[in-house]
Amino acid sequence: MAISLSNFLLPISLFLSAVGAATVTYDFDVSWVHANPDGLQTRPVMGINGKWPIPPIVATKGDRIIVNVKNSLGNESTSLHFHGLYQNGTTHMDGPVMVTQCPIPVGSSFTYNFTVDQPGTYWYHSHNKGQYPDGLRGPLIIHDPDSPHKDLYDEEIVLTFSDWYHGLMSDLLAGFVSIANPSGAEPVPESSLVNETRDLPISIEPGKTYLFRMINMGAFAAQYVWFEGHTMRIVEVDGIYTEPTDAEMIYMTAAQRYSVLITAKNSTDANFAFVGSMDQDLFDVVPDGLNPNVTGWLVYDSTKDNPAPKEIEAFEPFDDFDLVPQDKEELYEHVDQTVELNMKMDNLNDGANYAFFNDVTYVRPKVPTLYTVLSTGSNATNPVIYGSNTNQILLKANEVVEIVLNNDDPGKHPFHLHGHAFQVVSRSEEEAGAYDVSAAADLPSTPMRRDTVLVRPNGNIVLRFKADNPGIWLFHCHIEWHVASGLIATMIESPLDIQRQLAGNIPTDHWDNCRAANVPTEGNAAGNTVDLLDLTGEFKSPGELPVGFEARGIVALVFSCVAAFLGMGVIGWYGMAPVKAKTG
Ligand code: C2O
Repeated sequence: MAISLSNFLLPISLFLSAVGAATVTYDFDVSWVHANPDGLQTRPVMGINGKWPIPPIVATKGDRIIVNVKNSLGNESTSLHFHGLYQNGTTHMDGPVMVTQCPIPVGSSFTYNFTVDQPGTYWYHSHNKGQYPDGLRGPLIIHDPDSPHKDLYDEEIVLTFSDWYHGLMSDLLAGFVSIANPSGAEPVPESSLVNETRDLPISIEPGKTYLFRMINMGAFAAQYVWFEGHTMRIVEVDGIYTEPTDAEMIYMTAAQRYSVLITAKNSTDANFAFVGSMDQDLFDVVPDGLNPNVTGWLVYDSTKDNPAPKEIEAFEPFDDFDLVPQDKEELYEHVDQTVELNMKMDNLNDGANYAFFNDVTYVRPKVPTLYTVLSTGSNATNPVIYGSNTNQILLKANEVVEIVLNNDDPGKHPFHLHGHAFQVVSRSEEEAGAYDVSAAADLPSTPMRRDTVLVRPNGNIVLRFKADNPGIWLFHCHIEWHVASGLIATMIESPLDIQRQLAGNIPTDHWDNCRAANVPTEGNAAGNTVDLLDLTGEFKSPGELPVGFEARGIVALVFSCVAAFLGMGVIGWYGMAPVKAKTG
């Protein structure tokens, strides 16, 4: 019997696309454009190919992703990080500037090229100069033909939530880490956005089930999220499938993701509001007139009204600690290395407020840490060469690492680890103080895993993961203000394996960018290639405050000295002049 060619070819091509890995390529020209997403103020934003919001990156498990980035910003270097991707074997494609690469200077290009073997909901963002709140942030979705939940829904919808500032990050950061802000008060966002806009209608068909992939791409604010009249069924957090679990409200910190199933009602009688509400506990002062909420609607019938959301009595979000991963990966019972990180905020003798792990605030090295690994041979296992201010932690191949993080600060902090999803084995209530192993309750047998987790005010978290991914992986608070004030540690995982994988294999555009950016690519954190233990000339934080000085005291002292020299007019200028917008 003759088989017609067209009938024959169709199933073959489907077969190939189902099992054969594809390459998805994006050409991204990054430049300033203008936008007014909250309807309150037009401002410059970082767009891609002349547009903002920037496009999602979409691929299927197993694919290769190639992103060709051209920096056409004109006034700032940049980079892209693919948040949540493990980058197994490709730590040099991870994106944080001065960690795994040099900045991409104005006018230069850089290609990210890696494969993805992990399905789920991720995002990508600049990892340079606190840029992503200027708009360089977008969804990254990895589809999974083998998803355990794929028969449970009909369609998927991506929802990003985020805070929004009217000022440029370059200006806001200059004011944030400064003597004029000794208490370290973070700028408060002007608005909350969903899909980089407000008042978002979403057409819903009765009876269908939707997978909502929700991403908090904000700089600072966590968001409470709820859908009126509908229950969320959580099936994924940060790329980890979970046992389906119902929730009426979730709490999504900056950088976290939740995929939830929502089954539509069978009738089209009414439309329903959904809300993202910024957690105002994070704000030192809530400005008059701030609207912390953003609203959208499940629209069953576009001829009917979209109702205003109802007032709620209290925020009672689902506790993500109770989630169980669908693969039931068991608790790592045996720990090989415990890393204790005690975090606090304090002032240094320049009067500005900084963030510390174990009394050290992060300052970038002169040489990107990955290049120190690649250029120092067997010395790469000596932590000293990575400098005095990088909070370097050396991890051995395949050991089980435990991070005990004690938050000696009254704020909430969302901690993120690059290159891994960790088991969240313990999380205290607020005000619990430091983790006490002897008093610790039983650990969960199949702990929730994710890549970003909240530590509560003056509380603690305990995380475990296996060091099975050689690379340089940052561990940091994902509040962009705290990245700027130094709340960063550098995990240096199996450095000799990194050398075996990557020495001689770094693409030339990486080195070209370093040359163009004038960044050295060899030697220790100070760029010393002769005596690797000599850190003379490395970048360091300001010194400590003299004993007995309060931050406000030193500010008063500096101000009065300056005043004595220059007169009061200058004081007004120093403290209050708005910094001029630098965008072209
Ligand atoms: Cu979203 Cu250091 O990352």
